[in-house]
Amino acid sequence: MSLGVNIDHIAVLREARKINDPDPLMALAICAQSGADQITIHLREDRRHIHDEDVRRIIENSVLPVNLECSINPEIIDIVSTLRPHRVTLVPEKREEVTTEGGLDVCAQYEIILNTIKKLTENEIEVSLFIDPTDEAVDISCKLGAQWVELHTGTYANVYAMRYSSLSHSHHAIDSLKLSRKDLNSRLNQSYEDIVNAANKARIFGLKVAAGHGLNYQNVTPIVQIDTIEELNIGQSIIARSIFTGLQTAVSDMKVLCQR
Ligand code: PXP
Repeated sequence: MSLGVNIDHIAVLREARKINDPDPLMALAICAQSGADQITIHLREDRRHIHDEDVRRIIENSVLPVNLECSINPEIIDIVSTLRPHRVTLVPEKREEVTTEGGLDVCAQYEIILNTIKKLTENEIEVSLFIDPTDEAVDISCKLGAQWVELHTGTYANVYAMRYSSLSHSHHAIDSLKLSRKDLNSRLNQSYEDIVNAANKARIFGLKVAAGHGLNYQNVTPIVQIDTIEELNIGQSIIARSIFTGLQTAVSDMKVLCQR
C-alpha cells in the first residue's frame, strides 16, 4: 500500500500567522526519507493554505511524485496545467467548508469533468477523481476516462470515531449517544463494505484505486486490508501526530501500518 502524505496542514499553521514559517517545502525530504511514496497538496480556490508559489516550489523540489488536489474551476485548471504535477485529483470545493466534505458529483458535472480530464491529459497529467464509494460514481468515473479514482473514506472514518472514540476525544461521540452499539456496528460494516465494493468494481474496470479522508492510526488498518486499493492519502492525523513526535516518526509510524 502506497502512502501519500498530505502536507496542507503545515501551510495552515503558517497562514495562522501569515508569515513564512513553517515552510511546507521543508517536509519533502523528511517525508521521502520516512517512507512516504507521494506528496499530496490541495490548491484551493481561496488559497487558504497552499499558494501557487508553494505548488511551484514543491513540484520543482520533490523527489516524490506530487498529487495536486483541486476543483474543476477553469481558472484553477489553467494554473494547474502550467504547473504540471504528476497527478491531479479533482475534488469538490465549497468556500464555507472546513475540509473536503464528500466526493465529486460526477453525474451532474459530467461534461465539465470530461473537458477537464481532456485538458489535463493533453498536458500529460494523470487524473484521479475523488468520489463517494458508490457503484454509480465508479461507473461514471470509468466512462469519463479517468486513470484513478480516490474513494472518499470520510463516512467510514466518522462512524469509526462514533463507535470507538471516547467522549473526550471526538465531536462525533456526541451523536453516538443517540445510536445503539448495534446500530453503530451495522453502520460501520456498511460504510466499510461500500468502500470494498467500490474498490473492487473500480479495479475490475481497470481503474487504479486510492482512498483517503479522515484516516488515522486507529481506523486505517481495515482499509489497508482491501487489496484492490493501492494508495492512501493521509494528512490531518499525520501532521497532528508530528507535533508531538516529529514528522519523521509520524510518517514512518503510518507507513508501518500501511504494510499488508
Ligand atoms: N484525499 C483528499 C481528496 C482530500 O481532500 C483530503 C483532505 O485534504 C485528504 C485525502 C486527506 O484527508 P485527511 O487530512 O483527513 O487525512
